[in-house]
Amino acid sequence: MLNIGIILGSTRPGRNGEAVARWVTEIAQKRTDAKFELVDIADFNLPLLDEPYPPSMGQYTKPHTIAWSEKINTFDGFVFVTPEYNHATSAALKNAIDYLFNEWKDKAVGFVGYGGSGAQRAVENLRTIAAELHMADVRAQVGLSLFTDFENFSVFKPAAHQEASVNTMLDQVIAWSGAMKTLR
Ligand SMILES: Cc1cc2nc3c(=O)[nH]c(=O)nc-3n(C[C@H](O)[C@H](O)[C@H](O)COP(=O)(O)O)c2cc1C
Repeated sequence: MLNIGIILGSTRPGRNGEAVARWVTEIAQKRTDAKFELVDIADFNLPLLDEPYPPSMGQYTKPHTIAWSEKINTFDGFVFVTPEYNHATSAALKNAIDYLFNEWKDKAVGFVGYGGSGAQRAVENLRTIAAELHMADVRAQVGLSLFTDFENFSVFKPAAHQEASVNTMLDQVIAWSGAMKTLR
């Protein structure tokens, strides 16, 4: 059974990301074609990257890096749940990604973005990062708007059609996670 990690990419107190990532996980866990786990990067207390060697060498020296590596290693594919901060993904998610290399490589990734206009720019930013990590980024993505999928920009009330867009993205992540497994 494929194992898919749903990565909650914001760490801010009062973050909207937690409700979004929980909703994605609930939709995913109705499926029977893969196992899904919500991974909150805040739980790993990662400082700004503090490893002396390039992550591609896998020579980790810090307990927080080893814990993060061991968790990410368990997955065949990912969903990155990202806010948009200044037309990019969050610094916290970029930092968490930068810690590792082989744990991401040759795995599939899909995206759920939320922000003023569906976090399209944050997702494009993550697609270029995914390319450098040799990840297979799927075409379908979920764009949630603070104007139409939240009340008062803070209470998450996704429009009805969004559940189908999550499942379309997951269909692609699962198909490509299975295909990429043959490369590893
Ligand atoms: C530092 C910062 C920069 C932001 N920049 C953008 C932006 O460029 N485009 C956008 O649509 N929303 C922007 N927003 C709004 C966020 O997407 C929105 O507040 C979202 O809820 C943030 O995710 P979080 O609550 O999980 O931290 C920004 C918010 C913050 C805190």
